[in-house]
Amino acid sequence: MDRYAVIGNPVAHSKSPQIHTAFARQTGQQMEYLRLLGESGRFEQNVRDFLAAGGRGLNVTVPFKEAAWRLADDCSSRAETAGAVNTLILLEDGSLRGDNTDGIGLVRDLRDNQEAILRGSRILLLGAGGAARGVLQPLLEAAPARLTIANRTGSKAERLAADLSGLGALQGCGLERLAGMTFDLMINATAAGLGGEVPDIPDHILARNGWCYDLMYGDEPTAFVRWGESQGAARSLDGLGMLVEQAAESFFLWRGVRPDTRPVIEDLRRRP
Ligand code: ATR
Repeated sequence: MDRYAVIGNPVAHSKSPQIHTAFARQTGQQMEYLRLLGESGRFEQNVRDFLAAGGRGLNVTVPFKEAAWRLADDCSSRAETAGAVNTLILLEDGSLRGDNTDGIGLVRDLRDNQEAILRGSRILLLGAGGAARGVLQPLLEAAPARLTIANRTGSKAERLAADLSGLGALQGCGLERLAGMTFDLMINATAAGLGGEVPDIPDHILARNGWCYDLMYGDEPTAFVRWGESQGAARSLDGLGMLVEQAAESFFLWRGVRPDTRPVIEDLRRRP
């Protein structure tokens, strides 16, 4: 049977096996999907061992996405922009292709599941680390009027915006520079939520009917989701839908079949 896995460290908490098993059942694909604990300093060997044992592809999660990008023989343009790979695909010729489905997962959840209008909108992306970089290209391809990257360390946001300026209308700044600006959609890609915190964002920068979206998710509403509600957001969403959508795109890359994500998202909401 064709075999896939998610590799990360830690990996025990990953919902990917549950999601891909549901996709396989729904689409009648004969495959199994495992969890693989990656070892620090031995990631490449871990991947090679899995492929040698018949593995056909991998999802890659923290902290190995950059290592996977270096390992892949060639990468999609969105993975090159991200400098990170979350999907490895073993091709017929034995080479390893890298892709990154995080950004398209975010855009699909917003646009298709939630019916957000991204074209022409004013988007704020909070954070300038790997998570922010990972979603930038698909967000820009959704043709916002402008995309602002804001980060606690402003210089990192400025550098990231300058690096990717060829992709679209992009600007970078520190959080303190946001006062007086207005955004239709604020996306949290910082790690602040890990400590239950929200970045130090000025009040009143969310437009009336504006939306908030946290790339993180949890059984309880995240700190940023609650912050959005406190700012009167029309919708304040966590990243569970994105998680399922990025998985669906990986599944499509491997199997050539697009699963229906809605029942899987609903099931995860009911039974986390
Ligand atoms: P990831 O891969 O999750 O993006 P990362 O590359 O370490 O992790 O980036 C973490 C991001 O979260 C950075 O943008 C960081 O801001 P700095 O560059 O100023 O460090 C941001 N971050 C982490 N904790 C934060 C906090 N408490 N408030 C605001 N931003 C925070």
